[in-house]
Amino acid sequence: MTVPRDGTLLGAIAVLKGDSSVSGVITFTQEKDGAPVTVSGDIKNLSPNAERGFHVHEFGDNSNGCTSAGPHFNPHGKNHGGPDASERHVGDLGNVKTDGSGTAAVGITDKSISLFGPYSIIGRTVVVHEGTDDFGKGGHADSLKTGNAGGRAACGVM
Ligand code: CU
Ligand code: ZN
Repeated sequence: MTVPRDGTLLGAIAVLKGDSSVSGVITFTQEKDGAPVTVSGDIKNLSPNAERGFHVHEFGDNSNGCTSAGPHFNPHGKNHGGPDASERHVGDLGNVKTDGSGTAAVGITDKSISLFGPYSIIGRTVVVHEGTDDFGKGGHADSLKTGNAGGRAACGVM
């Protein structure tokens, strides 16, 4: 769901659901094209005191669950990486951290994703994973594709 607020500021909201009890609401806002995007909200019922992979995936399709969202959003054909790396997918937002009750308070500012233009994330899916994103450095066969972040705990289209 997108919320045009005026000529420039743009917002999008994703409601995360999955096969488990993990759920959340994530809001994306951007003042104008080229500005950083603020990602905020809460995700509940994750593992306590953990870091969990958090990405924008390519497709806004959850018809067969979160798997239908496809791979990480990667319009420039890069390897997977951490959010501060120059070599990363556009969709690589890193990990969210949970508290002792399994709630992650998300507060990310990111310069790679955008709500404007040909590489907009609007209409795509945000996914929170069952495992931790290794930022491409874990040495696993999947590290440079997915950060080896495991299954998809919940997802939602923005
Ligand atoms: Cu992911
Ligand atoms: Zn990635």
